[in-house]
Amino acid sequence: MNLAYVDYGTDHSKPPVVLLHAFPLFGAMFEPVAIRLAGSRRVLVPDLRGFGASPEPGTMEPSVDVMADDIAVLLDRLDIERAVIGGISMGGYVVMAMLRRHRVRVAGVILIDTKASKDDDAARADRERMAKAVLTIGPRALRPMLGTLLGPTTHRGRRETVDKVRMWIEQTRPEAVAWAQRAMAARPSSTETLSAAGVAGVVVVGAEDSITTSDDALAMSVAFQPPAPVHVIVDAGHLSPVENPDAVADVLRDALDGMI
Ligand code: MLT
Repeated sequence: MNLAYVDYGTDHSKPPVVLLHAFPLFGAMFEPVAIRLAGSRRVLVPDLRGFGASPEPGTMEPSVDVMADDIAVLLDRLDIERAVIGGISMGGYVVMAMLRRHRVRVAGVILIDTKASKDDDAARADRERMAKAVLTIGPRALRPMLGTLLGPTTHRGRRETVDKVRMWIEQTRPEAVAWAQRAMAARPSSTETLSAAGVAGVVVVGAEDSITTSDDALAMSVAFQPPAPVHVIVDAGHLSPVENPDAVADVLRDALDGMI
């Protein structure tokens, strides 16, 4: 599938960085970070299958592998051999699938507010419930997510951010939500994948992230050989690039300088 994407930055002398968004959002969530990095990097921000301006998810069996193959197709279209691949939450699951399926295209990995573990039975059942609810009543089935996607600091003091994320959630296509939920439910554990990757990594987590916690971040860090550095983003929950883009951009700028 040909994904929609935004291409930031004009420095094509180094491998670019590709940033993959969270569920149930789209590439625009990375805009503030991409703008801050664009002075020194080329940054590509796609909309994953079904989200944003990308086509409907289609009829393929839901899988993060399919999403990873879409990213490989994007790199082919842009004539890019290797890139640093970064992703937040669902985007992180796709990064790990890239390592399994397209390792030679990966110059380094950035894992933000995500985890290497697979779902347990209860989590898979919740995803199926959400998939069915959104197909029945539409994106309003997702409204309760807003409470946990953003941290208490954002809920208390960043009214515009809360409103923007609410609007993004309401724009999501039900078919994409259902497809992505089933894809995430089917994903394997990626702990071995990170151990075997032989690639530089960096782990980022919002200090107030209650969905993918600092324990999840630490577990990913120690899976790398040698362990990847972990950066905690203050005043941010699960959507740290949206809640504290200055801090996330600073971390990524330094990490990228060390990788490529
Ligand atoms: C996300 O932010 O992408 C989701 O929390 C991922 C998930 O549901 O596991």
